[in-house]
Order: sequence, then structure tokens, then C-alpha cells
Amino acid sequence: MRIAVIAMGKIGLPLAVQFASKGHEVIGVDVNPATVDLVNQGVEPFPGEADLGRLLSENVEAGRLRATTDYAAAIPNADAIVIVVPLFVNDETWEPDFTWMDAATASFAEHLSKDTLVIYETTLPVGTVRGRFAPMIEEISGLTEGRDFHAIFSPERVLTGRVFADLRKYPKLIGGLSQAGADRARTFYEAVLDFDERDDLPRPNGVWDLGSAEASEMAKLAETTYRDVNIGLANQFALYADRVGINVHAVIEASNSQPYSHIHRPGIFVGGHCIPVYPRLYLSGDPDATVVRSARLANASVPEVLVARASDLLGSLAGLNAVVLGASYRTGVKETAFSGVFPTVAALEAAGAKATVHDPLYSAEELAKLGLVAHVEGAATDLVIVQTDHPEYAEVGASDFPGVRLVIDGRRVTSAEKWTGTPRIVLGEGVATP
Ligand SMILES: NC(=O)c1ccc[n+]([C@@H]2O[C@H](COP(=O)([O-])OP(=O)(O)OC[C@H]3O[C@@H](n4cnc5c(N)ncnc54)[C@H](O)[C@@H]3O)[C@@H](O)[C@H]2O)c1
Repeated sequence: MRIAVIAMGKIGLPLAVQFASKGHEVIGVDVNPATVDLVNQGVEPFPGEADLGRLLSENVEAGRLRATTDYAAAIPNADAIVIVVPLFVNDETWEPDFTWMDAATASFAEHLSKDTLVIYETTLPVGTVRGRFAPMIEEISGLTEGRDFHAIFSPERVLTGRVFADLRKYPKLIGGLSQAGADRARTFYEAVLDFDERDDLPRPNGVWDLGSAEASEMAKLAETTYRDVNIGLANQFALYADRVGINVHAVIEASNSQPYSHIHRPGIFVGGHCIPVYPRLYLSGDPDATVVRSARLANASVPEVLVARASDLLGSLAGLNAVVLGASYRTGVKETAFSGVFPTVAALEAAGAKATVHDPLYSAEELAKLGLVAHVEGAATDLVIVQTDHPEYAEVGASDFPGVRLVIDGRRVTSAEKWTGTPRIVLGEGVATP
């Protein structure tokens, strides 16, 4: 097959490489010429994806994979187009921002040939392929969905860093606007993916047709929103446990020892591109989903709750020096998308504190570019808040922060013995402050 993959990002590039590895002719399209140049040289544009460097150079050398900025060179006569351009959400209004997706759709629709299979893999609100993109493609291309081309939704469920392994491990969910479209999508994915055998699934691992694009859109939103809601519950349990002096972590471990309980871990913030975003895409279709909305609000409010506790314990934070440990949204990744560092710093500043930030993965200049002030080692500190569970934070303690009067650990990563003599609160541990 001749396949076009639109967006050579952290998901699109490994996908293109996977398709090429199965012997197909693949052209990647990206608006960023620097990315396109690197792909054409067989050099990975970003680090951290297992096996990508080797497989990319092999497939480029073999002539099976190339990239371009030119839709006109990639789209005509493609058997299939796979779109993985990101969709954003407005952090204030919670509304989806379709700017990049619309631009990509308009760009390929101009060059679409008859009989092309068009597959969206970007996580979308329910109804987007049928209600927004199929009509847009029809209008621009003059072609008709179901007759001249098929539009499909198939969510990408992999985690960056282990894309190739996850592509084999998880069933490939598909949903079309017609059975004919879904059948073509099944044939397509069976030709570009391999699947691990799994005996823990209700049906064999492979391509699973969910019967409609909407069901397939919802499946991705459901599996991710589930996690946000679950963490929201864990966070409410943790805050309650703290008020009444119970260690919630022991409670969760005990509850989960029975097979019907799967309570997640509490934490100061749910960050990253996915989990804090997808519940809001879900809510854009189902605004009355009170459980989803409450969990999202509960998770977003933990930094403020913890800063308010610090303020109570220290009297006031006005004029105090606070250090936030961790800019990354989670351990081991250099990524600050929707990171808890931002609301934590904002809550500290709103309470009158001066907030600086430390992260072993970021230089002072990099923090400054994010609008954050770097902590200077050895600087006088009143309050420490742990925002990321970097393993380094198990080793830091009171001696690293001269004058420190309180540490609040939002990730349960610090070691008690390093903080002897300093009041230390660990979210959910329910231990009274000395
Ligand atoms: N990153 C993840 O962990 C992950 C996991 C599962 C699913 N996804 C899905 O994949 C989507 C893409 O994520 P990503 O991490 O690959 O993004 P990314 O930020 O790594 O890459 C996005 C790419 O899109 C390109 N682009 C922007 N506008 C374009 C256009 N009009 N035409 C062509 N290219 C364009 C950019 O130049 C960039 O290279 C997400 O929105 C999400 O729905 C991501």
C-alpha cells in the first residue's frame, strides 16, 4: 500500500515507521521543515522512543519511508491516510481547539483521490469524524463519504517511549461511518500491525470493530476519563484521610486486595497531554456528566488545597520563600504540558509567597522560558512543596533548604529521615504535623 501519515510527532513518526516496516510505501507529512529534514536523513527528531532510531534509519535507507511538507506530494493516490495532528483544549473554557486539526484536514482534502481510506487517530470528542471532518472533506474535495472515500476513527492508545510494544499489545479499536468503511479499516490495520497473543481479553487481540466512529471515539475518552475520575476519588479520600488522621495509602492497598476495587494513587496534580485533557473533550459532548466534571475540578484543586494548608500551618505565606520541587508533570519525562508546577506556583503567589522551582531535568534558562524562576541551591527557604516524584527527591532533606519550616510532599516520594525536625506532610498519609 501507499500510506500517508499526517504529523511526524511522537506518535505519527513511530506509526509511519511501523507501517514501513511491514513493507508498505509511507510518506510522512509535517508542517515543520526541520522535522521533515531529520526524518529524511533517518535521524529521530526527538529522543526517548524505544527502537525508533534504528527502525527509522533502516526504513529510510530501504526507500520505504520519506517525509515532506507538501501535501500535494503525499496525498494523491494514497490507499490510506492516517491523521495524528494534536487537538488541544482551551484551559480556561474547556472547549476543544480544532485549529491544527482543521488546517490538516483542509490541506489533505484539497488533494484527496477517490477510494482513499481516511483514518483519524487523534483523540476526538464523540461525533467529530461524522459531524465535523467528513462534511469538511466532502466540501473541499468534492468527493462523497461512503462512496468515494471512507472516514474512520481509530484511537491511538500507546504510550510514548514504548509505542512499538504497545501497538502489538493492545487491540486496535476502529469505527466507521459505514460497514464498508470499517471493513476496509480492518483490512488496513491487519496489514500494518502485528498483535501479541493475549489470553486475558474477552476476544482475540487484533482489530476490534466497535460498530461506529462514535463508539470508537468514546472508547478512548472513556478509558482515559476513567483514570481521571478514579484519581479524583483517590484525592478526595486522601484529603479526608488527612483531616481525620488515617493513612489513605494503607487503606487503598487494603481495598485493592479485593478484585473489584482498583483505586488509583492520589497526587497533587494530574498532568500531561492526555488525562487532564480528554475528560474535557468528553464533557464537550456530554456537559451534564457531573461525575466527570467534579473529578476534573477536584484534581485541579489539590495544589490550592495544599497551599491553603501550608498557609494555615505557617500563619501566612506573605513574603515567604517557597520552593516547588519538580516542573515535569511526572517522573522521568521532560514534559511540562498541563504540569502541576503551574497551578502550584500560581497558588503560592496568590497567597503572597515568592515561588522558585527546581527540577533535575531543567536548567534555569529552560525554567525561565516556561515563566518559572529557578531555585538557587542553598537559598533561604521557608516552605518546600514536592510536585513531581523524581527519584532524586527521596534524597533531599532539610539540610538542603536552610531555614525550612514545612515540607508538603504531594507525591509521597520524600524520606522521613531526611526531614527530621521539620514538619512534613505527605498527601494522604494522615500524619499529624509535629
Ligand atoms: N503523546 C502521547 O503520549 C499520545 C498517546 C496516545 C495518543 N496520542 C494522540 O496523538 C496526538 C498527537 O500527539 P503527538 O504526541 O504525536 O504530538 P506532537 O506534538 O509530538 O507532534 C505533533 C506534530 O504535528 C505537526 N503538525 C501540526 N500541524 C500540522 C499540520 N497542519 N499538518 C501536518 N503536521 C502538523 C507538528 O509539526 C508536530 O510535528 C495527540 O493529540 C493524541 O490525540 C498521543
